[in-house]
Amino acid sequence: MRGAGLKPVKVGICGLGTVGGGTFNVLKRNAEEIARRAGRKIIVEEIGARRINPDCDTKGTQMTSDVLEVARNPEIDVVVELIGGYDVAKELVLTAIEHGKHVVTANKALIAVHGNEIFEAAQKKNVMVAFEASVAGGIPIIKAIREGLSANKINWLAGIINGTGNFIMTEMRDKGRDFDDVLKEAQELGYAEADPTFDVEGIDAAHKLTILASLAFGMPLQFEKAFTEGISKITRDDVQYAEELGYRIKHLGITRRAENGVELRVHPTLIPETALIANVNGVMNAVLVDGDAVGQTMYYGPGAGAEPTASAVVADIVDVVRTLTADRDNRVPHLAFQPSELSDAAILPVEQTESAYYLRMNAEEKPGVLAKITSILGEQGINIEAIIQKETSEDQVPVIILTQSVLEQKLNDAIAQIEALAEIGGSVTRIRVEHFDS
Ligand code: HSE
Repeated sequence: MRGAGLKPVKVGICGLGTVGGGTFNVLKRNAEEIARRAGRKIIVEEIGARRINPDCDTKGTQMTSDVLEVARNPEIDVVVELIGGYDVAKELVLTAIEHGKHVVTANKALIAVHGNEIFEAAQKKNVMVAFEASVAGGIPIIKAIREGLSANKINWLAGIINGTGNFIMTEMRDKGRDFDDVLKEAQELGYAEADPTFDVEGIDAAHKLTILASLAFGMPLQFEKAFTEGISKITRDDVQYAEELGYRIKHLGITRRAENGVELRVHPTLIPETALIANVNGVMNAVLVDGDAVGQTMYYGPGAGAEPTASAVVADIVDVVRTLTADRDNRVPHLAFQPSELSDAAILPVEQTESAYYLRMNAEEKPGVLAKITSILGEQGINIEAIIQKETSEDQVPVIILTQSVLEQKLNDAIAQIEALAEIGGSVTRIRVEHFDS
């Protein structure tokens, strides 16, 4: 093997849970194939974990319960952070960098929230921080955007980037299962976050979207400015009415280059049922990217789970190992663009973003009510795409309206006026609609 004379690279794995265990097993099982790709052997020198993993045969591998010991171990070249969370993980990564070690992490929360600081520290120390596994598990989406699409001016991207949420939406729609029941299964399968509200309320997806937006547009990570709306308020009625109109509801992360800034938002979204991404089901993830040269491309695959995520972690380790003998000035920059070239484009408040909408309201069944609703929308310059009134035996009937694209602030004003009508009961449900036009 070429490079066989090079010393093996020594890796320290911190965290031996779902992803850590998967990474250990893949490195061991495919050691020969991986060495042929990397050009030298990769050895797990030490594992830092508080608990053993019954799925891993760690006999013969040095173990410690102190992950910082791994970060300081002079024998180790690459520290693999798979403990998750913010605090200890941040200390671990910064300690590893301080000790001149390259870092591979699957931690989207850490990168989305502390990535700017971590990359700055890594640049000072001339080390790599690789984070492919932080977004969409096994899909090499970071590599695709950062390297494969580097010719393009990226216009927008949209993704189903939380497997747990997609699993819940799919099971509820296809099998009429209860929300809690499906969530419990996702937890048992090792897909869900330690705090599953991160999955359900879109925080996990916002972490991932923040990373993708920075890579797509070359701007610092700005998680705190992401707009996040969860799926817990989606009703079976909405799922059914959406289907009648030819749409599926998916929990999407969307980032778009607009005239006056960048949109960065996670929310339930109606998607035409004929769109490829509307048919991404279960725990699978997909990211659709619109670039000015290539047009639309879509990346699909498992977004969570032990070995799919390990696939991305190990690919990063191989990348780092190849980089060890490469020219430091010609590494792929952390955020795809050279650090000195990052843009200061503003993240737009959600009121300044544009979208089409699905609206559902309960209206009294009497003459003139629909006219009042449509005239409020008309006064705000909101075009109606479709309108349905459902028959019921109740005094109030559900009215469903699809609008064309409108500035969110105008929609907010219209909804406030509609809710103030005496003939409207309760609040108006709104769900954004995407058609993925170029
Ligand atoms: N909880 C995440 C998901 C795990 O369900 O997609 C992968 O990041």
